[in-house]
Amino acid sequence: MIQVIENKFLLTGKEYQYAFYVEDGKLYHAYYGANLGVYYESCGKEGYKVELPKEYSEFGRGDFRPTAIVVRTNESLSTDFRFDSYKILDKKPSIGLPSMRGEKQTLAVVLKDLRLNLKLTLFYTPYEDGLVRSVLLENNGKEAVVLDKISSGCFEFSRGEYETIDLCGRSNAERQYSREKLGNGVKKLASSRGITSHQTNCFMALLKSGAEEETGEVYGFNLIYSGNFNIECEKDAYSRVRVIVGENILYGGIELQAGEKYYTPEVVSVYSIDGIGGMSRNFHRLYRKYLINPVFADKIRPIVINSWESVVYNVGEETLFEFIDGAKGLGIDMVVLDDGWFGERDDEDRSLGDWYVHKTKLPNGLKPVIDRCHASGMKFGIWFEPEAISPNSDLYRQHPDWAIHTNGCEGVQMRNQFVLDFSNANVVDYVYECMKNILENNAIDYVKWDMNRSLTDVPNAKKYRDYTLGVYALYNRLTASFPNVLIEGCSTGGARFDGGILYYSPMIWTSDNTDAWCRAKIQYSTSLCYPLQSLSNHVSDVPNRQTKRSIDFETRANVAKFGCLGYELHIANEKEENRELVKRQTAEYKKDADLILTGDLYRLRNPYIDGAFSELVVSEDKTRAILVYVRESSVLYAQKEKKLLLKGLDENQKYLVQETGEIFTGKALHYIGLEIVLERMDYSSTTLHLTKV
Ligand code: GLA
Repeated sequence: MIQVIENKFLLTGKEYQYAFYVEDGKLYHAYYGANLGVYYESCGKEGYKVELPKEYSEFGRGDFRPTAIVVRTNESLSTDFRFDSYKILDKKPSIGLPSMRGEKQTLAVVLKDLRLNLKLTLFYTPYEDGLVRSVLLENNGKEAVVLDKISSGCFEFSRGEYETIDLCGRSNAERQYSREKLGNGVKKLASSRGITSHQTNCFMALLKSGAEEETGEVYGFNLIYSGNFNIECEKDAYSRVRVIVGENILYGGIELQAGEKYYTPEVVSVYSIDGIGGMSRNFHRLYRKYLINPVFADKIRPIVINSWESVVYNVGEETLFEFIDGAKGLGIDMVVLDDGWFGERDDEDRSLGDWYVHKTKLPNGLKPVIDRCHASGMKFGIWFEPEAISPNSDLYRQHPDWAIHTNGCEGVQMRNQFVLDFSNANVVDYVYECMKNILENNAIDYVKWDMNRSLTDVPNAKKYRDYTLGVYALYNRLTASFPNVLIEGCSTGGARFDGGILYYSPMIWTSDNTDAWCRAKIQYSTSLCYPLQSLSNHVSDVPNRQTKRSIDFETRANVAKFGCLGYELHIANEKEENRELVKRQTAEYKKDADLILTGDLYRLRNPYIDGAFSELVVSEDKTRAILVYVRESSVLYAQKEKKLLLKGLDENQKYLVQETGEIFTGKALHYIGLEIVLERMDYSSTTLHLTKV
């Protein structure tokens, strides 16, 4: 709901309220927190005006804290944006970037800098479960200005003690949970890699001191963008906290010519009084309903078997026939042919960009392979790395200038490859035509879109933004031409796990690390912001390719099924016993998937802290629930774990634990808990189903 009361603006969702006001032509922040039903000024008006909480802080006019916007001209570094007008729009404006869907009322507040003739519009869309903000800058002057910084949102918090949770990591250990006390100064989470990256995620939670998994006040921030981002969180000398979220414009800034406009990506902010779990459930509901491509949102995803870890580059008709035959009859829905099928791709040092079928490996094209899948009752999917170009490729020999480069510098190779300049429409056209050709001429139902390196040699700041727009342009064209092809996002595992990709790709390969315990951790923390239905998880061979650890087959599946289940192993070579297990796992998953993918998530054990991973997913109507429990080491508790307190059930109802036949009330499960009995071994696990009786 949007309310305007004289000079005051009030935005209300289910749990939250957000307020700001105009005074002497400037915008000041008033309140962000629990839904109080009335306009409330919590930030106070004492002190000098320059010190008051700002609605959208600007540089150079007495606010020395991190600012939301910096516009530069030859003569100046500062702006003086003053309130001009406001409008309540019937629906959100289209910003030319992936953004939250739905025809939602939006508040547009217009500010003007009269000296520079700039118009700044702040957009606010209050969804039930969270607030969405973005900004539009229009240069109505006669001269170009330079944008050094333009954030999607600035959020002010009253004095107090806070903690943060961030998701920093690295390849094979993406999005690691890290909670810390917010100290003095600025905490900064940013990417300058041109992709969101393994190293940081464009998410941060701000906790009021004392908040826990299911209690206390927690704010979450997530930028819907797949390129460079910047999150700054400052605690100043008076313990006031400011959070700035937006694009990370790099050195030199971006020129905005006279008459040009610039839309920022959207920032989604959620608030919960039910702790970290409440924040996650708000994000999940928002993203399931309004972000994920509605063709696939809340629908059960196919169980795939991916060729990468077993076939690697040894693609060939016979090898693939064997692979497909091995998967037949096990309940698997889709065979995905990964890297190695195109150009002369016999190794990782060649052919990216040459998106035509490898003539020696597959002399009869893809058809016999696809036919074999269909005859075995499975569909077919294929891997592309659309943004990549190998120096050793026909494409590079024809168009060396299509790789992102800085004139006169030798390009930096990573994984023996360069990145294509997606800011060039001809490049996007070429890649689109190649992919279209493969998709049109073959019965392909699934694409895995990989992106395996960071951007280097980028000649100017604008190219980073234009590159990301080019990625979205290709996504727009592909999803328009092939609306029913499911495109899985991937980036050497999870280096581009963000809302921008999620807008198009309903699921994202969570990490190349498929070791069940490492994966449990990655999945746990990824779920802080992103719903389980966006996590693509595979059961792979042991010893694990990344960790050389051997974890029990059932545990591998128990972890993988808490998201979109798939397999990535040489299934024909598996023991008969495991093949039977696959049959059982896929059958069970098909029964459980709607619950896992659409239910409310309660995290019960934090694998970073508790030595155990446990999640409970409860159906919206609270009639069903599914629980996973994985224990790291058997040493501490032998067989019986500490009782697990189940949250989120209906306390007044009784539930049957299907596997044990026991019946408990929701209240007893919450306050006394459920006994978890496990086999005496490391990494043992169980999945339990609860149904209302
Ligand atoms: C990346 C992906 C893997 C696989 C390989 C193929 O590492 O994350 O899943 O597709 O590329 O080269």
